[in-house]
Amino acid sequence: MKVLVIGGAGYIGSHVARLLADKGHDISIIDNLSSGTEENLFPEYAFFRGDILDYPWLVSVMKQGYDAAVHLAAAKAAGESMRRPEKYATQNLTGTINILNAACEAGISRLVFSSSAAIYGEPKYLPIDEAHPKDPTNFYGFTKLEIERCLEWYDRLKGLRFVALRYFNAAGYDLEGRVHGLEKNPANLVPVIMEVAVGLRPHLEVFGTDYPTPDGSGVRDYIHVTDLAEAHCAALVRLMKEPRSFAVNLGSEQGLSVLEILDAARKITGRSIPMVMTGRRPGDPAKLVASSAAAKDLLGWEAKHSDVETIIATSWRAYTHHFAHDA
Ligand code: UD1
Repeated sequence: MKVLVIGGAGYIGSHVARLLADKGHDISIIDNLSSGTEENLFPEYAFFRGDILDYPWLVSVMKQGYDAAVHLAAAKAAGESMRRPEKYATQNLTGTINILNAACEAGISRLVFSSSAAIYGEPKYLPIDEAHPKDPTNFYGFTKLEIERCLEWYDRLKGLRFVALRYFNAAGYDLEGRVHGLEKNPANLVPVIMEVAVGLRPHLEVFGTDYPTPDGSGVRDYIHVTDLAEAHCAALVRLMKEPRSFAVNLGSEQGLSVLEILDAARKITGRSIPMVMTGRRPGDPAKLVASSAAAKDLLGWEAKHSDVETIIATSWRAYTHHFAHDA
């Protein structure tokens, strides 16, 4: 299959591209390298550097004969989205509308879209399944929800078949240590812990230790990025075989607390990783855990590498590799 991976130099996109190439697909990447990095691009890929906001350029690339596209080009910091909604409106909403229109113009009718558990908002029940009410608590989640709704209309009106993958907390790096381009200025827990471990930050701030959880810190469903990549491959195969659109959660169905992750990171890295307890971060729910039953049913997918040891060990290898080569 000839697949266009939009945002393929980024954290999740680079893992998706790597796995698709491993499975023998012909990979082209679009990325503006604003958060992605050239380090994540492998020689066998065709690379088009440019911006999804540049519509004529986007159409010209998308017209080069692809069987399907995967769209992962978006801004994703939930906190920042509340301070800079205009950035998220432009990059996520306008950027995606451009991709949908360009796909229609170019005759690409299969799309896998990076959605997020952020579309659900404050959990009404756990585990969260796809029927859970969708009421995002941040603008980032709103952009993902609006795009899903737009996809449904393009499915009906333009015949664009899609699978929307609602990621829970993506973490970890390639199991074979081949991807080591790191995220710039990360805000997510695992990369922040890694930056403390390598000495880039003085300490981890633990956002809240008074939640109604076993140790008081926030509980999330961490899903290894290779598991996510496998789901994208399964979604593409399914779309080619049976062009029917749907949205599924991707999670490990396990909850891990901030303090459990920190503890595992201290053991695996052998670093002290200082922490300070600060107040809750606004908009953070106490606990989020996925039901991934629909992904199992529709994609034959389940998490296989999302234990805390694999998540931390693969992240640590990427960070130590990067800083060994940077030094
Ligand atoms: C959020 C989104 C998620 C999105 C992800 C992408 C919501 C509810 N969730 O996840 O859908 O895919 O961003 O970026 O909008 N923490 C600390 N200290 C830190 C960083 C995090 O204690 O320095 C804690 C948080 O309070 C939370 C956990 O670690 O309990 C995970 O946080 P984070 O990695 O930022 O992800 P979410 O906010 O869960």
